[in-house]
Amino acid sequence: MSTHMPAITSENTFLPFGDQRNAPFYGKDILSVKQFNRSDLDYIFGVAHEMRVMVERIGTFDLLKGKILANLFYEPSTRTSSSFTAAMERLGGSVIPINEVRYSSVSKGESLPDTVRTLECYADVIVLRHPDVGASKLAAQYARKPIINAGDGVGEHPTQALLDLLTIVEELHQVDGLSVTMLGDLKYGRTVHSLARLLSLYNVQLHYVSPEILRMPKEIIDEINKKGIQQKEHVDLDSALSETDVLYVTRVQKERFSALDEYERVKDAFVIDLDTMSRAKSRMIVMHPLPRVSEISIEVDADPRAAYFRQMEYGLYVRMALLAMVLGKS
Ligand code: NCD
Repeated sequence: MSTHMPAITSENTFLPFGDQRNAPFYGKDILSVKQFNRSDLDYIFGVAHEMRVMVERIGTFDLLKGKILANLFYEPSTRTSSSFTAAMERLGGSVIPINEVRYSSVSKGESLPDTVRTLECYADVIVLRHPDVGASKLAAQYARKPIINAGDGVGEHPTQALLDLLTIVEELHQVDGLSVTMLGDLKYGRTVHSLARLLSLYNVQLHYVSPEILRMPKEIIDEINKKGIQQKEHVDLDSALSETDVLYVTRVQKERFSALDEYERVKDAFVIDLDTMSRAKSRMIVMHPLPRVSEISIEVDADPRAAYFRQMEYGLYVRMALLAMVLGKS
């Protein structure tokens, strides 16, 4: 071994796939984007990049061999659940899937704290999606093993926001200076709650386009205001479209409405179609956490600016990175 190896410092150093039990996220919960600063994000994206290289090169490898993830989903999921499963399996680990709590002891009346204290006897990390705001925080109070919030009701969806931000970085090669327009259900959409907070670490302009009854919650706007970020609310897309670099479209969250006629009134308030795209910047990207219902017409899929299918793939690498990090292997 050379005696001239440069010293490795702890400051933001990324050691690919070493055993780093002193690494910043080892044993930590991932509950909210509020826990991250910009250097954390650089670190996570550095690990995610390495994951991508490894997946492209060898597909599956044994970084987390012998580790077990419990995937505990109290709400429907396609992408989040299957990408965490794929992430764990690509890292050589395995998964206890509880996608249908109906068939678990939850249907017998078991509480969330008891369920997580059960699963942590068998698993090393728990990914939790739950309809109640703060559910993952509650679970983390009871669990000794790391809890990863995969969506807590209308609260947050931090791993989605990380993959959303990585998509912006990969597609546009910058975050500072961008104008990001969030459109659709900003009241109930947890992905935009997390993404807006995460973007407020950068020098961005945020535009919110929604029906009156689905506006971005005031407490989030106030929180972001305190960071000195420019935010503007709009009732139509036209007033923001020409300056938009990232158009982040969301589904109207039907399951969160108490009155279905209210949902019917707003469900098609905004539809992105070829005409919208013809008036947008040539370098704009369109994102969507998916599932899409009718808010982006399918003709838009063929436009190279439609980034929503690429966005899903970034989710695999971000979730691989997070699992490796909380389990002390990055
Ligand atoms: C989102 C969610 O569950 O909040 N989906 C996802 O995780 N990609 C968005 C949604 O359901 O509309």
